[in-house]
Amino acid sequence: MAEGIIIEGTSKEEKYTSLLPQLKALVEGEEDLIANLANITAVIKEVFGYFWVGFYLVKNNQLVLGPFQGTLACTRIALGKGVCGTAWKEAKTIIVDDVDTFPGHIACSSASKSEIVVPIFNHQKEVIGVLDVDDDVYATFNETDKIYLEKVASLVTSIIGK
Ligand code: SME
Repeated sequence: MAEGIIIEGTSKEEKYTSLLPQLKALVEGEEDLIANLANITAVIKEVFGYFWVGFYLVKNNQLVLGPFQGTLACTRIALGKGVCGTAWKEAKTIIVDDVDTFPGHIACSSASKSEIVVPIFNHQKEVIGVLDVDDDVYATFNETDKIYLEKVASLVTSIIGK
């Protein structure tokens, strides 16, 4: 399956609503996790035009860079460090309107101004990674992004092994 995604609507909510079932169909047709994560990042980047969209996966008690779309990024993040490490430690979504005000923010790119990080859980409710989306504009992310990116995270949970 390598057809394009067709998005209807112009508001963020309409775009996510249009996108979600297509993402579901896309990942359910492929069993490889990395291939699916790669396509998820490509599609979110294409539809919303955010500056950076990517996954970090927990490996040996660190977050390690996974599939992403955007500029060069830091490869490893410790538990509790930066926005990603904090979302992992607290097992909850974090929205940052201005990354310079977030204590310990890890600046992979000085162009990044705002950020949302959503934890991804396994079936035992442990965090196995995060979905990190950055933008080059302040205060880009809101409750709508949180709701729908958490649905994307749930979709990832549904396709990983038990
Ligand atoms: N800014 C993130 C690090 C990852 S990059 O933005 C891609 C953070 O503080 O967790």
